[in-house]
Amino acid sequence: MEDKLVEIGNASDIPSGTTRIFEYEDISIAICNVSGNFYAVENVCSHDDGPLGEGRLIGKNIECPRHGAQFDVTTGEITRMPAYGPIQTFPVRVKNNKIYVEIDE
Ligand code: FES
Repeated sequence: MEDKLVEIGNASDIPSGTTRIFEYEDISIAICNVSGNFYAVENVCSHDDGPLGEGRLIGKNIECPRHGAQFDVTTGEITRMPAYGPIQTFPVRVKNNKIYVEIDE
């Protein structure tokens, strides 16, 4: 498997403390701006497939809008139940206001 660097959007469209959802092929990705640093997670909750990117970003934790599980967007680790497993994260690079995400292909 090879990593592919995908241009996904503009950093200036995602203010600090907010999240925005982007689609790349069949993957839905939530880009989170945590105090000016960008993190990418799959837009799917590990509990029951809730749309994480529609939830609140609380510091570096994203809250699932369905049942309230929280995950650390910097690592994917769960920080609040009812989910039990981590979520997928993707490496992010920002250059000249463009956000690039590394995706396994
Ligand atoms: S689907 Fe996310 S907490 Fe249940």
